[in-house]
Amino acid sequence: VLAIWHQLTKTEIPELAKCSVLMRERSRVEETIHAMQRAGVGNLQVISDFDMTLTRFAHNGKRVPTTHNILDNRLLINEDCTKKIRALLNTYYPIEIDPSRSAEEKLPLMVEWWTKVHELLIEQRIRKDMLAQAVKESSAMLRDGYKVFFDHLAEQQIPLLIFSAGVGDVLEEVIQQNHVFHPNVHIISNYMDFDQTGVLRAFKGQLIHTFNKREGALSHAAGLTELQGRPNVLLLGDSLGDLTMADGVSEHENILTIGFLNDQVEERKESYINSFDIVLVKDETMDVPNAVLRHIT
Ligand code: TMP
Ligand code: MG
Repeated sequence: VLAIWHQLTKTEIPELAKCSVLMRERSRVEETIHAMQRAGVGNLQVISDFDMTLTRFAHNGKRVPTTHNILDNRLLINEDCTKKIRALLNTYYPIEIDPSRSAEEKLPLMVEWWTKVHELLIEQRIRKDMLAQAVKESSAMLRDGYKVFFDHLAEQQIPLLIFSAGVGDVLEEVIQQNHVFHPNVHIISNYMDFDQTGVLRAFKGQLIHTFNKREGALSHAAGLTELQGRPNVLLLGDSLGDLTMADGVSEHENILTIGFLNDQVEERKESYINSFDIVLVKDETMDVPNAVLRHIT
């Protein structure tokens, strides 16, 4: 089934015919794209995860840092803290992506991971005025084609909701330094709470981790007026937990989900194909989302 593609898709969106693009039901994808195109840009919103979705997974064989990992810089944290945060990553990341465990099983463990890391960061008394420099010194990198993606959405006044379990302050700095923090961008993430002297003392609000985005969607995204009255959603993510990011969209009509399968490809392929409409295997670019957007808008 996966090998079958229609002439229509080949000519209209040639990017969908690449062998790194997997689809459970190509005809459903085509129908959804056509329905979104007919409804027009005024009915569309884009909801995207950040780490490993808008940012690259790897570059030249080296992992690209997530917003949490960007904080691993001597300007912000000491060596002992680095070691502890890396040990936690080595323990919990394999659990996060383990296809043999259910989301319910992972949930308490993710809370444990995030809570421990945030406590360690708070102990380090991170200074707000050092964040920009840490991002500059990091190897943070958005996916190839990111500029076309962000600029196109801004030009068409299509709201882009970035929904991240990473660190919001770092995320903002990354998109700012890449000159794509446009007025149509809205962010739901874990934000740092600094005291009057600019020292980290807590994280604000309800913790967001990879498997509780549904709650964040219902409590935050549902309240964003800019997103209201836009029943068509293009959703981008790299984790199965990202699929719940659109749960706050009331009376949605068409949802097209695109999943980046970056890691543990063979082990997770089946579950990704069953869960996302379009699966992109080891694709470090925004080519497919950009092609779909170009077609819809
Ligand atoms: P996302 O929702 O923007 O993808 O951000 C969550 C990712 O951050 C998730 O895949 C795990 C990753 N992460 C780290 O890399 N280091 C950490 O210390 C924590 C808590 C999460
Ligand atoms: Mg992610």
